Amino acid sequence: MQSRRRFLKSGGVLVGATAYGLSGGALNAHVAANQRRFADIPLQHADSHQDAALTRIAFGSCLHQDKEQRIWDAVLAAQPDLFLFLGDSIYGDTRDITFLREQYAKLARNPRFHKLRESVPTMAMWDDHDFGENDAGIAYPIKERSRQAFLEFWQEPRSSVRWSRRGVYTSRTFGPPHRRVQIIMPDLRFNRTPLTVQDLGTVRYEEWCDAKRLAGAVIPGPYARCTDRVASMLGEEQWRWFEQQLAVPARVRIVASSLQVLADFPGWEAWINYARDHQRLIDAVRRTNASGVVFFSGDTHYAELSSLDVNVPYPLWDLTCSGLTEVWDTDVPNANRAGEMLREENFGLVEIDWHSEDPEIRLQAQDRFGATKIARTLTLSQLGATPEAQILSGR
Ligand SMILES: [Fe+2]
Repeated sequence: MQSRRRFLKSGGVLVGATAYGLSGGALNAHVAANQRRFADIPLQHADSHQDAALTRIAFGSCLHQDKEQRIWDAVLAAQPDLFLFLGDSIYGDTRDITFLREQYAKLARNPRFHKLRESVPTMAMWDDHDFGENDAGIAYPIKERSRQAFLEFWQEPRSSVRWSRRGVYTSRTFGPPHRRVQIIMPDLRFNRTPLTVQDLGTVRYEEWCDAKRLAGAVIPGPYARCTDRVASMLGEEQWRWFEQQLAVPARVRIVASSLQVLADFPGWEAWINYARDHQRLIDAVRRTNASGVVFFSGDTHYAELSSLDVNVPYPLWDLTCSGLTEVWDTDVPNANRAGEMLREENFGLVEIDWHSEDPEIRLQAQDRFGATKIARTLTLSQLGATPEAQILSGR
């Protein structure tokens, strides 16, 4: 399969600027506050609840273990309540479990990453490169041993149901009923049926790309929509779990997906390639009457905001933030893009203002200096929450 990584440029897109960090006192205070808030329940425990409300959630994806990872200074400075790893937290790209574990060990030794893990609660999902191999899915031969390595590295408690699942999908709720945030992290790798490649006739994909590049056109990836009736990223067992999650009471629901949910149509791996899953997701939101759904996604090595406002229960938004170290500068099509692509190291930061009558959710993509480069503020009523629902939920 064509690898997105083949087109990568190395890091260093922002040369000569000074990274900043928290002062020792501010960082220590933040660490102590988080330890108090999250001391009782390990955050990686699947499908469980934590009482502390969230107001600042950061997330990111595509983190290379061999790189400096200078973006963590800005993430720490943002003082998030929670950080979500959306996948490609290492680049394993191997069928050797010992090598894969060594890459996790290398990541653990990175002092900036270590500081982040010490001071901010985390939840993690994998994508292809930490699952183990570029664009891998159900047939990846060491997926079970990779699952064990993943859960060990992210310190999933031994009592967690996550150890016995086919996949590493997980969810949690945070906060009291009137400020409840739900995080749902589906696994798009362990059960994902094979990809479909675009039919380019006798033309090789590389030649097709070159022709588009010369014409100044955007360049889609090599994949097409899977029309096979059994094609799925989640698999039926995980689908049933996912649909149950949407019925769990919550005011804000963050579906943190390793792949883009609303982008149309990049030609790289994305929900839209599995058209039946894509439609089932929208139908599930409608059928469960799940308000407050916002999608986070990764994978792309650029940031962008996508929206979908046709044949959906309410306008849907997908904030893609990638990568924490990886940057890609090719123009990729996305008819649902709102605004511009951001081609720098970046992370997502979402702030929830619970104090207003109609709570606000501010979606942001930030660069490695903590500057906001993409922003959109939504209200809960714009995400399907009715005043009645707000009253019923305890406001
Ligand atoms: Fe990646």
